[in-house]
Amino acid sequence: MAQWLDNAVFYEIYPQSFKDTNSDGIGDFNGIIEKLDYISELGCNCIWMNPCFESPFSDAGYDVADYYKAAPRYGTNDDLKRLFEEVHKRNMHILLDLVPGHTSVQHQWFLESMKAGKNEYTDRYVWSDSVWEAVEGMGFLRGISERSGSCVINFFSCQPALNYGFYKPERPWQQPMDAPGPRATIAELKNIMRFWLGLGCDGFRVDMAGSLVKKDEDSKGTIQIWQEIRAFLDKEFPEAAIISEWGDPDKSLEGGFHMDFLLPFGAFHFNDLFRCEEPYFSGRGNGDIAAFAENYKELFERNSRKGLICIPSGNHDTVRLAKYLQGDELKIAFAFLLSMPGAPFLYYGDEIGMRYVENLTSVEGGYERTGSRSPMQWDGTPNAGFSCAPAEDMYIPLDSSPERPTVQAQMADSGSLYHDVKALIALRQSHPALQSKGDIEFLYAESHSYPFAYLRSMADEKILVLLNPSGKSASFDCTLPLSEKLHSFGGKITAENGKINVPAGSFGFYRV
Ligand code: NOJ
Repeated sequence: MAQWLDNAVFYEIYPQSFKDTNSDGIGDFNGIIEKLDYISELGCNCIWMNPCFESPFSDAGYDVADYYKAAPRYGTNDDLKRLFEEVHKRNMHILLDLVPGHTSVQHQWFLESMKAGKNEYTDRYVWSDSVWEAVEGMGFLRGISERSGSCVINFFSCQPALNYGFYKPERPWQQPMDAPGPRATIAELKNIMRFWLGLGCDGFRVDMAGSLVKKDEDSKGTIQIWQEIRAFLDKEFPEAAIISEWGDPDKSLEGGFHMDFLLPFGAFHFNDLFRCEEPYFSGRGNGDIAAFAENYKELFERNSRKGLICIPSGNHDTVRLAKYLQGDELKIAFAFLLSMPGAPFLYYGDEIGMRYVENLTSVEGGYERTGSRSPMQWDGTPNAGFSCAPAEDMYIPLDSSPERPTVQAQMADSGSLYHDVKALIALRQSHPALQSKGDIEFLYAESHSYPFAYLRSMADEKILVLLNPSGKSASFDCTLPLSEKLHSFGGKITAENGKINVPAGSFGFYRV
């Protein structure tokens, strides 16, 4: 089932900002189709596209107004179907972004559910039975409906929570998971999935996947729902894949997700690597990998048989990788990202080191996130080739720096980040040990110390990965022979007298 995940390398596309073909200053499906060859040439064979459904875009489309209709700004359902076909023609796969926990306040279901009279949608959202009572500890909307009640929100105030019930209802209006309201929500969720899988998408990235059942402290209720969804997929769409935005593989993989992301919160120490004052991958060499490695190891041991733990280069919610790392630091960070178990996820533009654009006015509920969502920089033409509209019509301004990286310039420069990323993906694709399901053993991941060394393996193949982002050469005790060099960057790595020495700012991959 979904064996295509074994060598999947994902590219995340924020459709607003990828390529505009109708000159309205905003990206579209046809633009993505135009650039599929670029993604494929880079070596990525899967796409995750952020929400592309009808929406008022108060939260970049994570506020869906119609789950069955593509947002006209991107194109029609037929255009989207054509995108699926073009993806498949190139032997690639594509995941849509599914938002199961909440809708927009403008969704017809919510408008109906606000009415005083009982109707089909009265129980589609989580409402109390009096405007004067809310759910303790949760955000809510009230005073905006004919109906007397407060409605729970899932994220922003414009995102009312769909009703999947309460794990342990405490008040009469708190519905159990098996009540007709929650069951109808699940039936509709399956229909939405059926609809898009039927049109040709290959699965979903699931937004806030852990948020469904309320007052569900250990997530047991939510896990149960996802197990039901996975059973439904296995039966009707066995090749489909789902990845959760949950950030808790112990729970998400138990729920049947094929993959979960490490997120920059929780106990993973993920931020220690790239996004903190002294990131491990900085050349200053003051970072610490030990806590990350320790946590990852435990997580991997508990979960690697259940599904994939995926480490993204960044996403539309995080600051860009290039805010904290530059030049060779980025190359070494990618050597790590592209050689870990699980499917790698590259955020569009990270492969050329696109920067976090500071001080942008918030667009579509982006706030600080807006700086990571600026238009893709393709070439040296106006608007970096993203759009032919006048610069003032760009829905988010481009990085205005004359030094902004572009695909065209990096393709022409054999020493660019683009070429390193491409080579690292190609390396991964020619060695199953480096791919999603290969095993990992950390050989050297000590507190405040460099290098970072691990062994990836699959069947008889064993590959030693050595990374030293710091500005000083570093060695560790290791008697493994560096039998065959597969790929390297920077100075010459040596093995002598039971020690391996990795020069400053270098990395290497060796068959052992
Ligand atoms: C997570 C998404 O990644 C984020 O962009 C969005 O704002 C929230 N979920 C709410 O849906």
